[in-house]
Amino acid sequence: MENETKRNSFTGSIGFVLAAAGSAVGLGNIWRFPYLAARDGGGMFLVVYLVLALTFGFTLLITEVAIGRKTKQSPLTAYGELRKRWKPLGILACLVPMIIMPYYCVIGGWVVKYFLAFLTGSGAQTAAEGYFGEFISDSSSPIGMTIVFLFLSMIIVLGGVDKGIEKFSKIVMPALVILILIISIFSLTLSYTDADGVTRTGMEGLKILFVPDFTDFSLKSFAGTMMDAMGQLFYSLSVAMGIMIAYGSYMRDDTNLSKAIGQIEVFDTGIAFLAGAMIIPAVFVFMGKDGMQAGPGLMFVSLPRVFQQMGPFGGYVGCLFFAMVLFAATTSAVSILEAVVASFMDQFHVTRKTAVLSEGVIALILGIIVCMGYNKLLFNVKLPNGVDAQILDIMDYVSNNLMMPVVAIGTCILIGWILKPDVIINEVTKNGEKFGRKGLFIVMIKFVAPVLLAVLLLKALGVI
Ligand code: ALA
Repeated sequence: MENETKRNSFTGSIGFVLAAAGSAVGLGNIWRFPYLAARDGGGMFLVVYLVLALTFGFTLLITEVAIGRKTKQSPLTAYGELRKRWKPLGILACLVPMIIMPYYCVIGGWVVKYFLAFLTGSGAQTAAEGYFGEFISDSSSPIGMTIVFLFLSMIIVLGGVDKGIEKFSKIVMPALVILILIISIFSLTLSYTDADGVTRTGMEGLKILFVPDFTDFSLKSFAGTMMDAMGQLFYSLSVAMGIMIAYGSYMRDDTNLSKAIGQIEVFDTGIAFLAGAMIIPAVFVFMGKDGMQAGPGLMFVSLPRVFQQMGPFGGYVGCLFFAMVLFAATTSAVSILEAVVASFMDQFHVTRKTAVLSEGVIALILGIIVCMGYNKLLFNVKLPNGVDAQILDIMDYVSNNLMMPVVAIGTCILIGWILKPDVIINEVTKNGEKFGRKGLFIVMIKFVAPVLLAVLLLKALGVI
């Protein structure tokens, strides 16, 4: 059996960084970040996000990767390996990717659908009024697309860590960076005069995104922005999902862990900012400031209209855009799947194939239920945080807003207070490497992060 012989590993630092960055860069960066940035006053959100990424995000990321490398275990078994009584936290950390995987595949399936539409020259249809709503409420097409996306992820994970995940990331991540750069530059050169004779340019849109707007500033709005940025960080950096523990367990002992973490941070934050610079100016040019407030529908509803407005170019830009989103979503889905697969392999001593097939079946069944949440199982509930939700939103809420903060708080307590931060510091510096933000790390893991996380959790529960 695979894990009884030799544990798979990434071939080196570049392989690890590209795979981990591939995990981090996903729908969170391209779909969620731009609409949050637009909603929360652009520049202000970016500054808060950046500060939190370099402090809070960094702390959680380095902790999880170090736990993985130290224990050489998956999330399910790593916590118990560190301290026997903490095994239940591992179970929770493994349940998170099991809940996320199905609905991530459903959204991945939507991306497949849009990509195929643009590839086959029928991208203009996606801009029609009601297209998105009709598509997701169809009883068969979203399920078919979910299966395509899930299959793709399963095939890559079946290839193993080095020959599957690393190889795929090494091809796709550079391609993603090139595509996002091309589309961002194109977006900034746009200009459009609307029916009222008002001309808007991409550069003006960029200014709105990057320059903080203090007109409606209040302490309450700042606190809201901070909570949004923190929630987004979780999602974006793939922390508290078990993923970084699994990937850390495949990291070679001679890799400079601290340096690798810095590179992942730059990659993830850089791509999120580029996604903002790509989407917001384009939406602003063709739809004005109001268009930027479209929320979650920004990618599937507003952007196709933007592509349509671009004229003959639009079809090509749309095709490149959705290819890029598909790359980003696949490398993330692969990592979510791997977190579960590694857990099954370590806990039940099964082969990779059995683990992939088992989680594949679970994700498929739950994925179908999520798709049915827009037709046969359609209902609306109000979540404690005030959001109107269907099945997909409920799964997102339970995993992202409730379970992930709990996993992260547990991790902070275990590392900060029970085992002490030295357990991570020693792992990071074991080959004599420097630990750049060591003082900051200690303060964050013991005091600041657990408090911020508790506030995030209470807010999600509607208590504050
Ligand atoms: N980190 C992944 C994303 O941003 C899950 O989508």
